[in-house]
Amino acid sequence: MSRNYFKIAVLPGDGIGPEVTNESVKILKVIGEVFNYTFKFEYGMIGAEAIFQTGNPLPEETLEICRDSDAVLFGAIGDPSFDNNPDAKVRPEQGLLKLRKELGLFANIRPLKTYTSLIEKSPLKKEIIEGTDIQIFRELISGIYFGEKFTEENGDYAYDVCRYSREDIVPIIHMAFKEAQKRRKKVTLIDKANVLDTSRLWRKISKEIAQEYPEIELDFMFVDNAAMQLILHPKQFDVIVTENMFGDIISDEASVIGGSIGLLPSASIGTSNALFEPIHGSYPQAKGKGIANPVASILSTAMMLDHLKLEQAADKLRTAVEHAVENKYVTVDLNAKQFYSTSEVGDFIADYIKYSEKIYYNFENIKIGKSTIV
Ligand code: IPM
Ligand code: MN
Repeated sequence: MSRNYFKIAVLPGDGIGPEVTNESVKILKVIGEVFNYTFKFEYGMIGAEAIFQTGNPLPEETLEICRDSDAVLFGAIGDPSFDNNPDAKVRPEQGLLKLRKELGLFANIRPLKTYTSLIEKSPLKKEIIEGTDIQIFRELISGIYFGEKFTEENGDYAYDVCRYSREDIVPIIHMAFKEAQKRRKKVTLIDKANVLDTSRLWRKISKEIAQEYPEIELDFMFVDNAAMQLILHPKQFDVIVTENMFGDIISDEASVIGGSIGLLPSASIGTSNALFEPIHGSYPQAKGKGIANPVASILSTAMMLDHLKLEQAADKLRTAVEHAVENKYVTVDLNAKQFYSTSEVGDFIADYIKYSEKIYYNFENIKIGKSTIV
C-alpha cells in the first residue's frame, strides 16, 4: 500500500536558509493539498543559530527529530562571525558535518542541467554549455573532512588526515553505476591517483566494481584536469563520482554552467535517512532581504519527493520550476533588470502546481500584485 503521511524534519539554519526553506515548505503544503498527502513538519535548530541559543551547533533534540523523520529539509549553514575567527572551537559547519555523519548520509547527489532561458547568463559560451546534463556523486562522510585534525598550541603547525576504506567507497560507486545505467552509460571517477594513496584505492575498487556493469564505460580523470575539462567541455560528462573534498570543489565550479549556484539542489542519501539541501551556502549578505533564489531549495524538495516515491508530485514540481525559469519569473541573480522576490517566485511555483495551465502569464499583473489566475 502506498503511503500518504510523511514526517519532514525542517532545519532552516543560517543566513538565507530560513527564507528559501520557507518557500519549500509552502510548496510542500500545496503539493499535499493537490495530491492528497499529509506532510507533518518538525522544526529543529542547527548551525550558528543553534550555537547562539544552546552553545551546540547540533543539539541532541535536532538530531532526534531528524532520525525520526522520513526526510530532512535543510536550508544553509555558516555565519561571518565564525568565518572571520579561525580560533573559534565551536563552528556552525560542525553541526552539518555531524548530522551527515550521524545519519550515515554517505552519498551526496548533485544534478546539473542547463536552462535554455539562462544560457546567456553563464559566463561560458553557449555552444560549450548548451545541453549539459551531469549527475555528480560526492562521497560525504569520510575523507579529509572526517580524518584526524590537529593544530599545535603555538598555531604554527596543523594537519588534516584523509582516510578511506573499502566500505566507504563501494556503496557510492555502485550508486553511480546504477545511475549511469538509466542515463548515457558513462561514469567518470575524479581523483588524484598520480599522488594520493586514497585515490589509488578509489581507482582499484571502481575497476573491480565495473566488472559487474559491462555496459557502462568507466573513465578516470585527475581532479586538476577535471577542473579544466568541466568548463572546457562539460558535455563529455554523464555521471561523475568522487571523494568528499574534490566533490565539494568541483560541484561549485560546475554550478557556473547552470547560470547560478542558486539553482542547484542536492540529495544526501544514507541507508535509513535522507537529507535534501541546496548546494549554496548561507549568503549572509542577503539575509532577510527577500532576494535569495529559492529554486535550489525547491528543486531539493523535488528530489525529496522522488526519494519518498512521490514521483508524480516531483515531476509536477520540476515542471513548475521550469515554467518559472523559462518565463523569467526569477530572482535578481538571474535577471537584474526584471526580478521578483524570494516569496514571489515561491508563490508563482505554488500557484502553477495548484492551477497549472489556468495561470495567466501576465507579469505586469503579478508585479503590481493583481491576481495571476484567470
Ligand atoms: C557543501 C558545503 C559544506 C561542505 C560546508 C558548509 C561544510 O560547502 O555542502 O558543499 O563543505 O560540505
Ligand atoms: Mn560546498
